Amino acid sequence: MSTLDQGDHLSPWRMCVAPMLDWTDRHCRYFHRLLSQHARLYTEMVTTGALLHGDVDRHLRFNEEEHPLALQLGGSEPADLAKCAKLALQWRYDEVNLNCGCPSERVQRGAFGACLMSEASLVAEGIKAMMDATGGDERMPITVKHRIGIDQIENYEFVRDFVGTIADVGCKVFIVHARNAWLKGLSPKENREIPPLRYEFVHRLKQEFPDLTIVLNGGLADNAACLAQLQPGAVLDGVTLDGLMVGRAAYHTPWMMADWDSLFYGEQAEGDVLTREGVEAAMVAYAQREMDRTAGLPHGEVRWPAVIRHILGLYSGMPGARRWRQVWSDHTLKALPPAAVMARAHERAPQQAD
Ligand SMILES: Cc1cc2nc3c(=O)[nH]c(=O)nc-3n(C[C@H](O)[C@H](O)[C@H](O)COP(=O)(O)O)c2cc1C
Repeated sequence: MSTLDQGDHLSPWRMCVAPMLDWTDRHCRYFHRLLSQHARLYTEMVTTGALLHGDVDRHLRFNEEEHPLALQLGGSEPADLAKCAKLALQWRYDEVNLNCGCPSERVQRGAFGACLMSEASLVAEGIKAMMDATGGDERMPITVKHRIGIDQIENYEFVRDFVGTIADVGCKVFIVHARNAWLKGLSPKENREIPPLRYEFVHRLKQEFPDLTIVLNGGLADNAACLAQLQPGAVLDGVTLDGLMVGRAAYHTPWMMADWDSLFYGEQAEGDVLTREGVEAAMVAYAQREMDRTAGLPHGEVRWPAVIRHILGLYSGMPGARRWRQVWSDHTLKALPPAAVMARAHERAPQQAD
């Protein structure tokens, strides 16, 4: 697999890990950061309601190591979005991303997520309110994640006009999940699988709006697929995407990220080369620190399975991976310290077992 021609300037959005509810919490992001120093990480979606009326610390807390880090918001009311963006700035997030792609019924009842694609001017108003409240792009960019259409709207012009309307208020970064959201009849999971992927729509957006940062998301299964999409002229002559966002593949086969800094950022490996076992040991140490830090806290006590669950794909594809996973998932071991469980998981090295 060849590395790409780097050029002088790489977009900060070159490789991103998608926001994923229940998955990309701070423990997961800490893990992903061990694998790539440069990948841009996203929180799970946090609704404006949860932030404005709930436990801010629980929703916004993160580890310093996670930078560059974006907070993804779900909401549609400009004044609420503005208040939440201010919070994100105070907490030193590097970006606020507005979710215009989630098709779940719960989100539709709240009138945000993918249904906002039919209300481009309301989205533009929300983006502007957030920009005004936070002092503009240099301090903390406000970005949008969206689909290419909703329901039966299959024409390119729909997404082009959506992007155009929002770009008019100064938004410069668009993360495009390259399939429609069907708001009726499909579950969120089916909505990530059934509507067909149309990568060419995303490349057309970059062609039509060369000054915007256009990031492609959806169905990127491995690094070869990522490299192919970032190739100049991959789909349209003279058009090169700014970046990619990877969701499920990054979560299920996280080791793919260990190659990102060299493949996509042109870094030569120097000093310690990453190993799966080294990363696992670092996560064990992190889990232990989190347990010690939170011991005795009435609501916030962290137990190691909440951390380690995110690394269960670490040996995916390797001989012995299943047995290793089984040890880490064994409920009867939960009372042991994580270092002891790691020792058991390696009693026969994953590479040799099975
Ligand atoms: C478990 C799960 C939770 C998700 N939660 C969110 C979310 O909170 N916000 C969002 O914009 N997209 C969410 N998504 C969609 C992903 O961000 C991404 O757009 C989608 O999975 C397509 O990318 P992929 O094919 O690389 O996985 C979620 C996806 C999964 C699998």
